[in-house]
Amino acid sequence: MIEIRVDGLAHRYADNGSALWALRDVAFQVEPGEFVAIVGRSGCGKSTLLRILAGLTRPSRGTVLLGGMTARQARAEKQVAWMAQSPALLPWKRVSDNVALAQRVNPRPERRAPDVDSLLRLVGLESFAQAYPAALSGGMQQRAALARTLALGARLWLMDEPFASLDALTREELTAELLDLWHTFRPTALWVTHDIYEAVRLADRVLVLGSRPGRLQAEVCVQLPRPRDETDPAFALTVQQIRRALEAAE
Ligand SMILES: Nc1ncnc2c1ncn2[C@@H]1O[C@H](COP(=O)(O)OP(=O)(O)OP(=O)(O)O)[C@@H](O)[C@H]1O
Ligand SMILES: [Mg+2]
Repeated sequence: MIEIRVDGLAHRYADNGSALWALRDVAFQVEPGEFVAIVGRSGCGKSTLLRILAGLTRPSRGTVLLGGMTARQARAEKQVAWMAQSPALLPWKRVSDNVALAQRVNPRPERRAPDVDSLLRLVGLESFAQAYPAALSGGMQQRAALARTLALGARLWLMDEPFASLDALTREELTAELLDLWHTFRPTALWVTHDIYEAVRLADRVLVLGSRPGRLQAEVCVQLPRPRDETDPAFALTVQQIRRALEAAE
C-alpha cells in the first residue's frame, strides 16, 4: 500500500480545440491502504485524473507522488493497477490467459497476489476460463478485465468505473468479494463510480469532483462499520450528503 499526494493538479488537453480545463487545482491525499471513491458528473475529469495517476497522461501542471515516486516511476515499478473505463481484453487469448498474462508479464515473486482460479471465481467466470473474450457479454468482459487488474497484486488500485456494465445484483455480490480481497492485500484504492450507493458501500471517503472546470468540491467521510448495512439510516444520510454535494457541484 502506498500513499497518494496530489498537489495543484491541472490538465488541459492540447488537441481538443477548446480552452477548457479538464482538471483545475486538484489537491488531495490518500493514506496508505485507504479506499477512496471518486464521484462526479460525466465529463468532469475523473478518467483524466486516473490516467494522470497511472502515469499515462502528463498533467499540464501540478505534482503527483505515489509512495514518494512520480506516477511514471510508480508505473515503471509496477506498483499500480489501472483499469480503464473501457478495458480491452486480448481477443486471441482465452479468459484465463488474459488474467494470467498480467502475472506473467510482471513476475513479482516477492509480491503476494491472488491466483488466477480464485480471481475467476471471485468475478463469477470460473466456467468461462477457457472461453475467448468474443464469447462473453459486455459485463462478463468487464469482470474478466477486473480479474486481470487484480491479478497484478499491485499496491495501488486505480479503477475507472469497473462495475459500470454490471447489473445491480452482480455489483452487490462483487462488492463483498472485492472488499474481502482489499482486506487481505490492503492496497490503496481509488475507485471511480457514478453509483453513490456503490461509493458508500465500498469507500472510507468519497471525493466529489465538480465540473467547469474539474475541481474537488467536497469530501465525505463514510463513518460506517463494515460490512455496511444499507438499511441503516446513517447509510441513507451519507448517500444524501454526497448527492447534495454533487448537485451543488454544477
Ligand atoms: N483524449 C482527450 N482529448 C481531448 N479531450 C479529452 C480527452 N479525454 C477527455 N477529454 C476531455 O476532458 C474532459 C474530462 O474528460 P474525462 O474523460 O476525464 O471525464 P470523466 O469524468 O471521466 O467522464 P465520464 O463520467 O463520462 O467517464 C471532457 O471535457 C473531455 O471532453
Ligand atoms: Mg470517465
